[in-house]
Amino acid sequence: MAAATPPGEAGAAPPPSRLPFEVIRDPRAMRARADDLRRDGLRLAVVPTMGFLHDGHLSLLRAARAQADVVILTIFVNPTQFGPGEDLDRYPRDEAGDLAKARACGVDLAFCPDAAAMYPPGAQTVIEVRELARPLCGAKRPGHFAGVATVVTKLFNLTQPHVAFFGQKDYQQLAIIRRLVRDLDQGIEIVGLPIVREPDGLAMSSRNAYLSADERRQARALSAGLEAAAVALAAGTRDAAALVARARAPIDAQPAARVDYVELRDAAELTPIERVDRPAVLAMAVFVGTTRLLDNRVLAP
Ligand code: PAJ
Repeated sequence: MAAATPPGEAGAAPPPSRLPFEVIRDPRAMRARADDLRRDGLRLAVVPTMGFLHDGHLSLLRAARAQADVVILTIFVNPTQFGPGEDLDRYPRDEAGDLAKARACGVDLAFCPDAAAMYPPGAQTVIEVRELARPLCGAKRPGHFAGVATVVTKLFNLTQPHVAFFGQKDYQQLAIIRRLVRDLDQGIEIVGLPIVREPDGLAMSSRNAYLSADERRQARALSAGLEAAAVALAAGTRDAAALVARARAPIDAQPAARVDYVELRDAAELTPIERVDRPAVLAMAVFVGTTRLLDNRVLAP
C-alpha cells in the first residue's frame, strides 16, 4: 500500500533554528555566506527545489533540519533543464507561500537567484553524466539531465553543503546526482528520501496543480499500476515484460492517460533487465491530459 502523509504534519512545530531567517538572491553573496558559516564550524544542509513547495519538499526540509546546523533551501526554476515546448513559462510559482512554509519547517536560509544571475552571458560549461542519463527521462527529454547536473553542481558550489537531500520521486535524477558527486569528488553526502503521496496514492508533485478534477482522478492509475506490479511480484511473477504489463493495465484503462514510458530496470545502474533477480526499479512517465507525471517503485525479489 502507498503510505500517505497526514496533512496536519506540515504545520508541526519545528525545532528552534539558530539563525535569523534570511533570503539571499545574489550567487556571490550566497557563496560568501556559506563560506562564513563553514568557517564557524557549522554543518550545512541544502535542499534544492524549483519551489511551489508541497509535503514532499517539506519532508526533505524536515530531514535536513534534523541532521544539520544550517538548513539552506534553494528555489530556482532552472531554465536549462526544460526543453523547447515544455512548461518553463507556466511552471507554478509562489515564492511568498514557499518562504512561509520554509520558515515553519525551520529553514535558516533561502537562496532564490534569478536566471540571469545563474547563467550570465558567456556561460558555456555543462556537466554530463553519461550512461545513467541515457534511458527513461533522459531518452524522452534530451538535455534535461545535463541541465539538472549542471545546476545542481552550481548550487552545491554556491551553498557549500556537507549534506544534500533529494526525493526518490525523481529516481533517475537521484541516481545521477549520486554518481556526479562520486565522479567529481564533491565530498557531499547525498540523502535520498521516500516518495510522499496523497492519500489516494498519487505522488505529490508541483505539476499536479495542472490537473483538472477529472485528470486528477485518472492520475491515481500510476500508483495503482505500481501496486499491481508489486502484488504480482509478491505472487511469484519475475518476468519483466509481465510486470510492466501489470503496471500498464490500469493506466491504459484511463482515457486521458498516455504512457510516455513504463520500464523495469536495474535499480543501481538503470540497465535493462529481463527478470527481477536483484533489486529493480519500475519507473514510469505518463501524460494525463497534457501534464507529464512521474512515479516509480523499487521492486526486490
Ligand atoms: P523539484 O521538482 O522542485 O523537486 C525538488 C526535490 O523534491 C527533488 O529532490 C524531488 O525528488 C523532491 N520531491 C518532489 N516530489 C516529491 C515527493 N512527492 N516525495 C518526496 N520528494 C519529492 O527536482 C527538482 O526540483 C529539480 O530538478 C532540481 C533538483 C531542484 C534541479 O533544478
